[in-house]
Amino acid sequence: MKTSSGSPTNKKQVKSEGHPSGDDRFKALDRTMKRFNFEKDSLLEVLHDTQEIFGFLSDDLLIYISTHLRVPLSQVYGVATFYHFFTFEPLGKHNCIICRGTACHVKGSDVITQALSEEFAVPIGKTTEDGLFSLTTARCIGSCGLAPVAVLNGAVHGKQTPQSMITLVKDVLEQETEVLEQGEAG
Ligand code: FES
Repeated sequence: MKTSSGSPTNKKQVKSEGHPSGDDRFKALDRTMKRFNFEKDSLLEVLHDTQEIFGFLSDDLLIYISTHLRVPLSQVYGVATFYHFFTFEPLGKHNCIICRGTACHVKGSDVITQALSEEFAVPIGKTTEDGLFSLTTARCIGSCGLAPVAVLNGAVHGKQTPQSMITLVKDVLEQETEVLEQGEAG
């Protein structure tokens, strides 16, 4: 562990370690805002990155962004609530987003969503009680040619059926159980 001798050079080094909030994920958020020069127009991109970093948008995060981009909090809330891909609750360890845009809707995305909800006993937009799996929806994720589309843990899966999605999610959750069992055995 590094120690400080109190010399001016070391003071500078110590200051750069960690984030004042104690949560180093804020360092990544700070970097994102800096990359956009703290421009007000970068709000949507910053919200995107924030959700990727933290998994969801909390009130504290929205206030933090509002302060640093100097955008009124009402506007930050307005943008965050307008887009369906933003979530305000912590997601589960694994997340499945079903696209409900027009192309995917026509090809049966609602049936897939319903099938996953029933199979894994999770209401749409919520997380299972064990915190392992979230089922969420989005309007259009820009891959309409592959409709119906789902995004499982960040990977896009096109031309899905209820059964194919159930299989994909089951595989992910089974791997999770194996990891847990190995941990208990070890
Ligand atoms: S409508 Fe689903 S990807 Fe566009």
